[in-house]
Amino acid sequence: MKWRVASLLLFSAVLLGTTQCYYDDARTLYGTTPCDTAAVTWTADIQPLFQAQCAGCHGAISPGGGLSLINYSQISAASLNGSCMNRIQMPAGSPMAMPPNGSLTSCQKAKIRTWIRQGALQN
Ligand code: HEC
Repeated sequence: MKWRVASLLLFSAVLLGTTQCYYDDARTLYGTTPCDTAAVTWTADIQPLFQAQCAGCHGAISPGGGLSLINYSQISAASLNGSCMNRIQMPAGSPMAMPPNGSLTSCQKAKIRTWIRQGALQN
């Protein structure tokens, strides 16, 4: 009898524990903020991203592959003709992947993709 009471208590405790502390938002489950591509802009997202991830090699002097990616007209042109997305989407470790160390997160790729789909605007 005692055993039954104890197991019933334990069961209720577990049930309470699981129901009361149940969070199903992405931040709690995955420890990250969900990727927000709703309002991607050149100024807030794309320009700083290319500056940090691409300009080091694709600068003004002897840029990688002869491609400078330091200002809007260069970046939008290489984005609209498909070459940036083509390289960015290649799996990390592939010899043509950009950046070569595969450091772009899937959220950063999604933001670039969204910006290009929306016309690669200087917004
Ligand atoms: C560590 C240096 C480095 C970084 C960082 C880097 N690249 Fe490159 N990239 C190169 C080199 C070197 C080449 C030429 C060799 C090749 O085609 O793979 C190249 C080639 C390219 C090409 C092809 C150019 C052409 O016309 O053939 C594209 C597009 C490109 N990179 C885009 C990017 C983008 C976008 C980023 C940032 C997300 C980036 N790269 C970051 C070194 C880099």
